[in-house]
Amino acid sequence: MRSPWLNKLSLILGPRPPISWLLLCFVSVLALIAVFGSSSSNTFDSVISTPVPEIYTNYRRLKEQAAVDYFELRTLSLGASRQRELELCVKERENYVPCYNVTANLLVGFKDGEEFDRHCDVSRLGKRCLVRPPKDYKIPLRWPAGRDVIWSGNVKITKDQFLSSGSMTKRMMLLEENQIAFHSEDGLIFDGVKDYSRQIAEMMGLGSDSEFFQAGVRTVLDIGCGFGSFGAHLLSLRLMALCIAAYEATGSQVQLALERGLPAMIGNFISRQLPYPSLSFDMVHCAQCGILWDQKEGMFLLEVDRLLKPGGYFVLTSATNKPHGSALGAKKRDMLTPLEHFTEKICWSLIAQQDETFIWQKTADSHCYSSRMQNDVPLCKEGYDAPYYQALMPCIAGTSSKRWIPIQNRSSSSHLSSAELEVHGKYCVSPEDFFDDLQFWKSTLKNYWSLLTPLIFSDHPKRPGDEDPLPPFNMLRNVMDMNAHYGGLNAAFMEERKSVWVMNVVPVRARNTLPLILDRGFAGVLHDWCEPFPTYPRTYDLLHANGLLSLLTSERCSLMDVFVEMDRILRPEGWVILADKVGAIELARAQAAQIRWDARVIDLQNGSDQRLLVCQKPFVRK
Ligand SMILES: *[C@@H]1O[C@H](CO)[C@@H](O)[C@H](O)[C@H]1NC(C)=O
Ligand SMILES: *[C@@H]1O[C@H](CO)[C@@H](O)[C@H](O)[C@H]1NC(C)=O
Ligand SMILES: *[C@@H]1O[C@H](CO)[C@@H](O)[C@H](O)[C@H]1NC(C)=O
Repeated sequence: MRSPWLNKLSLILGPRPPISWLLLCFVSVLALIAVFGSSSSNTFDSVISTPVPEIYTNYRRLKEQAAVDYFELRTLSLGASRQRELELCVKERENYVPCYNVTANLLVGFKDGEEFDRHCDVSRLGKRCLVRPPKDYKIPLRWPAGRDVIWSGNVKITKDQFLSSGSMTKRMMLLEENQIAFHSEDGLIFDGVKDYSRQIAEMMGLGSDSEFFQAGVRTVLDIGCGFGSFGAHLLSLRLMALCIAAYEATGSQVQLALERGLPAMIGNFISRQLPYPSLSFDMVHCAQCGILWDQKEGMFLLEVDRLLKPGGYFVLTSATNKPHGSALGAKKRDMLTPLEHFTEKICWSLIAQQDETFIWQKTADSHCYSSRMQNDVPLCKEGYDAPYYQALMPCIAGTSSKRWIPIQNRSSSSHLSSAELEVHGKYCVSPEDFFDDLQFWKSTLKNYWSLLTPLIFSDHPKRPGDEDPLPPFNMLRNVMDMNAHYGGLNAAFMEERKSVWVMNVVPVRARNTLPLILDRGFAGVLHDWCEPFPTYPRTYDLLHANGLLSLLTSERCSLMDVFVEMDRILRPEGWVILADKVGAIELARAQAAQIRWDARVIDLQNGSDQRLLVCQKPFVRK
């Protein structure tokens, strides 16, 4: 059952004696035959088909092989049920996002805005089905071209939304008839965003926006990000800007941002906390984001305060603030708006105001809160900091955390210093583990990259010492690590300068490494894989999960539901890499066949019981 990938992997992993050149030619020819011979193959062929002669044979491998074959025989004998493929969903579900069915939420009694919130129990799907792509769906353009131009058939947007789009972060235009163009880096189309970014930097006392990073601003939560143009600009300045916006049935900001290859997820300010720990972001930004900040006794501002790191910034651009504030002159300072009144109470200082833009800075001093006179906002009782859509809390969070480090006190390098790492030490990671983890992921990524480059392989096989092959011909841009641990895969991608961003997901019942991931400047979120992920269909190019299957076997939910959800969020021709123990992988392989993925098991050949399952989602056109 040698698959071609296996041979390739062994070449890359194996030693390099001079004889390897001969071997290489031999293996390449075999692999070429195997690639063409199995181009129409499904799961089964790759296991049972062409026996390629063993090159690195040893006893242990043979024994393992026997185990794999045993599994294969057993699952085959389980019979026809295994081969039954899931049906495609009806056309109306093309843009289906579970958990946000307003009609159903109203029916069970949610009101006062809560019907727009995430309620997963209410909208459980009856029969499982596979969400199909729209009729005129096309594979996105490759990064970075895909950042500025997308296929209009890939997103759900109405003509009206198009015509009304006009605010700075929401500009776009129709090119030809099936493409949409956005702000472009070279400023040819719109340059409002660059001016805006420079203005914010200057208001913060910086020379230009290229100084954000040095000033400690590395991660930005962009609420209601328009179509992501501000975030796209921040990304070009080496910042991580994560867009969140409420679920929108059409013209969704999150769907458009993701289609452009920009970090985004559905999230809202209604009644619950966002699934990030406290002290997560260096800046929270809202430009006409539609949130009424002075409502609900300031609960939304308290949520922003919870998310902000000490010394972090809240940037608000809003026309509604204009008539109040200091624009009317210093004489009226005593007439504070409710917003100004509240921000003072929670130790934010208004450091600048210009036109419609206000910038507050959160205090760097955790004692500030208790020293404020007549402060009726208490400090929160601190516990395990892994909030998963908990109710908003009327208190100040994070003050007793070890992670209370002002952003201005950060080390200037892009790596965590050992002092910054130590903060996580007690419950998370030692510097040695951390270093080993990065080395492990760097070599693992090299292997993954080679696995994902089948076309290159048949065109010109990689020789020992060659440069890494080009990215797979399908663009890889939006990557999700479904069980991210320390964010090692993300770190390896960055070290290798791959043009991807990673959504690092920490499962609710895994070790809570999310604070570390966020402190590294990566995008990350807490998630329960027994529930749907808050994103639109077809928004990720690659899903990766190391050890997730084993973790899920102890969960209350069915593995099949997780796979159907993965299929929903994966774009056509997107990839899945699962790494796990041999038993879990065999189970997953059966599921992959049911949801029509092309799947191959890869043996890591180091004598462990770890296997990879590499899958590709087919492009179903009807
Ligand atoms: C939303 O819920 C209503 C009422 O339960 C149901 O009729 C409808 O099919 C649901 N819509 C979707 C897209 O699931
Ligand atoms: C941050 O740096 C300042 C100046 O170097 C220092 O006085 C302060 O104690 C530091 N704060 C923390 C929490 O490390
Ligand atoms: C084999 O490799 C896997 C992944 O590359 C790793 O997790 C495992 O520890 C290795 N096992 C041995 C025995 O080296």
